[in-house]
Amino acid sequence: MQKMDYAYFRSVADFVKNVIKDEPDVGIILGSGLKKLASRITEKIVVDYKDIPGFLESTVESHEGKLVFGRLGNKKVICMSGRFHHYEGYPFEMLTLPIRLFKLLGVRKTIVTNAAGAVNTSYNVGDIMIIKDHLKLTGASPLQGDNIDEFGPRFFDTTDMYTAELRKTALECTKDVPLKFHEGVYMYFTGPQFETPAEIRAARILGADAVGMSTVTEALTAAHCSMPLLGLSVMTNMAAGVLDKKLTDEEVGETADRISEPFCDYVEKVISRF
Ligand code: HPA
Repeated sequence: MQKMDYAYFRSVADFVKNVIKDEPDVGIILGSGLKKLASRITEKIVVDYKDIPGFLESTVESHEGKLVFGRLGNKKVICMSGRFHHYEGYPFEMLTLPIRLFKLLGVRKTIVTNAAGAVNTSYNVGDIMIIKDHLKLTGASPLQGDNIDEFGPRFFDTTDMYTAELRKTALECTKDVPLKFHEGVYMYFTGPQFETPAEIRAARILGADAVGMSTVTEALTAAHCSMPLLGLSVMTNMAAGVLDKKLTDEEVGETADRISEPFCDYVEKVISRF
């Protein structure tokens, strides 16, 4: 495994800085099926992950594998179109890379999106959940191993991980958007299998409103390096066992496609208020 020390993160950031020659204000990490937002970025500079020495590769088909710098919502943004997940085989420590890269590039606020299964039965497919907190009871932490003091302390607080001020902005922006919004708790499962109906019943008892296979690794890394973060989940399907039908990746993709237009409009509006 690549040694994930400070020099490594610096070398990746220096390479990207040299290409974009500017400092982004906002970092964006796009979830499955939500990559259309990247195509709205103007004055683009695109860097393929594979051209960045030592960078990770995105192995999921619906994830593009490009870093896009440019303008969106009147802000300078850097967008990861294609994210990394533990289920692809990446050790948790490696999943710190996107947020730490953003931090070293000078990003001030980050927004992460994901596709998720709705656990809360009052939610509907196509609704959006503004993440207010998360549950991660499985797997290790991306911050395990030697602490990198340049990013943050060994033990760190997570009470405002999904930054209250950004959630307030996100809620204010929901007015007149033709989508239904909720604020709720996201529960992480490692995947790649969808959860079992029993796991979903347990998740509901524990207080989860939605489940997914991403985001928490980035949120923990953001909390460690004091990066303000907003997380948005698209309810692409009802979670396992809620409806009498099997879960498929096609359903996830179809819902993401269907709400893509109003969702991208909404995210752009949020970014403009950051
Ligand atoms: N579970 C986990 N991850 C997901 C789901 C789900 O139901 N839908 C989209 N991503």
